[in-house]
Amino acid sequence: MANTLVIVGGQWGDEGKGKIVDFLAEKAQVVVRYSGGNNAGHTVMVGGATYKFHLLPSGIVHKGTLNIIGNGTVIDVEVLQREIATLEKAGFKVDEQNLAISSAAHVITERHKQLDTSEHSQKIGTTGRGIGPCYMDKIGRHGVRMSDVAASVKRLKPHIKDTVTLLNQAIHSGKKVLFEGAQATLLDVDHGTYPYVTSSNPTAGGACTGTGVGPTKIGAVTAVFKAYVTRVGEGPFPTELGTYEQAKQETSFSNLTPEAGMKIKRDVQAKANRNSDYDIGRYLRMQGMEYGTTTGRPRRTGWFDAVAGRYAVMVNGLSSFCLTKLDVLGGLKEIKICDSYGGSADFSAAGLSQAKPSYLTMKGWEQDISKVREYDELPQAAQEYVEKIEELLGVPVAIVSVGPKRDQSIVRTSLL
Ligand code: IMP
Repeated sequence: MANTLVIVGGQWGDEGKGKIVDFLAEKAQVVVRYSGGNNAGHTVMVGGATYKFHLLPSGIVHKGTLNIIGNGTVIDVEVLQREIATLEKAGFKVDEQNLAISSAAHVITERHKQLDTSEHSQKIGTTGRGIGPCYMDKIGRHGVRMSDVAASVKRLKPHIKDTVTLLNQAIHSGKKVLFEGAQATLLDVDHGTYPYVTSSNPTAGGACTGTGVGPTKIGAVTAVFKAYVTRVGEGPFPTELGTYEQAKQETSFSNLTPEAGMKIKRDVQAKANRNSDYDIGRYLRMQGMEYGTTTGRPRRTGWFDAVAGRYAVMVNGLSSFCLTKLDVLGGLKEIKICDSYGGSADFSAAGLSQAKPSYLTMKGWEQDISKVREYDELPQAAQEYVEKIEELLGVPVAIVSVGPKRDQSIVRTSLL
């Protein structure tokens, strides 16, 4: 158990970090976002209600938790104000006691958003939120910081502070702090599949630079991995099932009536179990509701990639991992795990496109596991799947998630 814990995305984002952070935030006194902006989209379900955050740390729905938006983030002031207003309308209090915004965080301007519609941004498949252009201005040393706009943004002004001192004081006084990563390891501008990456450092090192906390003050690092892999936007994806072109052609499952949806799902499941890669991918997309929270785009889906997983263990110095959406794999006869690229692994886009993945085949399970709360009650095949991933990654699983709700979590080790 640590007092300060960094949580990163282990894959290409959308691993369900929001839910795990929300689950752990119950024990934390401080939750801090350290990188990215409203390119992130975190869904948190509490007491039957669903909240979607793009900028606010996931701890904002917990009473008594201080939420910090760190200096490493980039902020669209309008979006942040809208998020605060929505929460207030739902009855949550957002005041100086539970939200602090770094005066050194950079501001996304209209010009940044316009620049993010360029041909280059489209080639990368960015979220179009102005993230890259804002970081360009920051690194170019002519950006606008929150301290520059504080006077003109009345609603946010009381929250804009020296969060570095605030956070270090909290750590010094023994408070439990969660560093909430956005995006993920393989989207890191230094360590991801460059150039198909975001413009910040979502890996664990970013938690230090993005908040002003020294590395010796970080107690543990965990990553959230989905039980399979998804990716949005362009870029190489060795374990992809079907192609991005095929995914783009699909009509959104969520637009169908429940009956029509069920029928299609049953057909797709039958085809998936006849070993059609595309249909397995589509089944995962449907079961896992793999459509972007920020953009609504269908996500590309693929088998769990233990080679990329081991890389995430290395570049983040992981001490454990959390496995989400294990329930989504239910109903597949066989489940595969990529355990080799047939040569050395190079995670640049050019290097990764050369990967020749080979797979271990594991037994699937039929049962709905979304109501299971004890590890030993999982079907034998599901336990074997989890343990094989632990073995391949070389670090233990801390939490297994079997559904989107806070209580749909099986805890193996207390992280905070
Ligand atoms: P940007 O961060 O908007 O510049 O987009 C760069 C790349 O990162 C694109 O491929 C995006 O789809 C991807 N990306 C950015 N944020 C997220 C996220 O929260 N989840 C998944 N992918 C993301």
